[in-house]
Amino acid sequence: MRLICMSHDEQKTSRRPVKAARLDRLPPYLFDELDKAKKRAVEKGARVIDLAVGDPDLPTPARIVEKMKEAVGNPTHHRYPGYVGSPSFRRAIASWFKVRFGVTLDADHEVLVLIGSKEGLGHLPMAVVNDGETVLVPDPGYPVYENMSLMAGAEVRRFGIYERTSFLPDMAELEAAGDAKLMFMNYPNNPTGAVVSAAFFESLVGFARRRGVFVCNDAAYSELTFDGFRSPSILAAEGAMDCAIEVHSFSKTFNMTGWRVGFAVGNREILKALAQVKVNLDSSVFGAVQEAAEAALGMRYDDNLRAFDRRRSIALAKLREMGCHFFTPGGTFFVWARVPEGMTSMELAVFLLERVGVTVAPGSGFGRNGEGWFRVALTRPDTEIAEGLERIAGLRLWTS
Ligand SMILES: Cc1ncc(COP(=O)(O)O)c(C=O)c1O
Repeated sequence: MRLICMSHDEQKTSRRPVKAARLDRLPPYLFDELDKAKKRAVEKGARVIDLAVGDPDLPTPARIVEKMKEAVGNPTHHRYPGYVGSPSFRRAIASWFKVRFGVTLDADHEVLVLIGSKEGLGHLPMAVVNDGETVLVPDPGYPVYENMSLMAGAEVRRFGIYERTSFLPDMAELEAAGDAKLMFMNYPNNPTGAVVSAAFFESLVGFARRRGVFVCNDAAYSELTFDGFRSPSILAAEGAMDCAIEVHSFSKTFNMTGWRVGFAVGNREILKALAQVKVNLDSSVFGAVQEAAEAALGMRYDDNLRAFDRRRSIALAKLREMGCHFFTPGGTFFVWARVPEGMTSMELAVFLLERVGVTVAPGSGFGRNGEGWFRVALTRPDTEIAEGLERIAGLRLWTS
């Protein structure tokens, strides 16, 4: 009876908070200000060129789409797929890995299909880290590592990646980081475009084994590298199968961000723990998508590479012309460039949007060490990239 008599406001204040306290562990969403500025610009009728978002404009290759059309009619795929991925897809992944990286994998225990690499990266801390144990994450870095570690109750310690080390971790800093259960690495690297040699993975795995840390290398951009460079796998390093996994994606290699398919490979105990989380949470990837992704593994992906390489050249030439310092990316479809003196990266991003209708990602969104930098995504047509950077050049921000 009392409830019925309560005013709407009284009812609101007597309710428990909806949001779990866990969500308060997440750092503030830094792109909020930028999202609002973009909305305002679009409402005012500006033709905004978006060089902030890492989602390729190019379509998935026709052969993969055709395979999907064919597979979607197969009634077997209309039922739940197996939890860890179809045996045929896992075998294809193991074969591709052998050819591409020279690493032998047991398709039954060392390959796990993911609903996009983000899903596996996000659930990994829940699978291997206890409350209060430490996870090491790169700064700047893809925010999922830190945020999902915090959600899993872990302590997060960031390690810097710096221009002076070509955006590789400083091993002395890692050595001094103290005890940790899990460490995320990401090469080829978002947001900097840095790549690493096989020798780097050798020394990293040596460190991880000495210190008893598990390592996850996020290799979502492994196939997007330039100038003939082939990105190595951490799993090729001596002893890596004892302590490491690597996460791969179809999103970037084949322009399949919407399809949601990737895989994790490596240490079987880590994968078993991750699979245990997933069994309770999802029922894997639609079988037809797995069949199409399996076909993709047998394809060459040079066209895509050529497109991003061409766009990289356009962007680097424009940045050079305007006197903006940048890091030459060895991989990914990003360019990491310096903010002009006297501005924060967020101030620059909002300024560019308001003045010339171009969005870039402010470096501070990727961590404290990202301040002073901004990220240009090459995921728009060549002409738009050129026009966007031309508009920025017109402001003469780096020449004063
Ligand atoms: C470094 C990195 N890892 C993983 C992902 C997630 O990719 P997906 O979930 O589409 O495989 C992204 C997406 O932008 C990324 O930049």
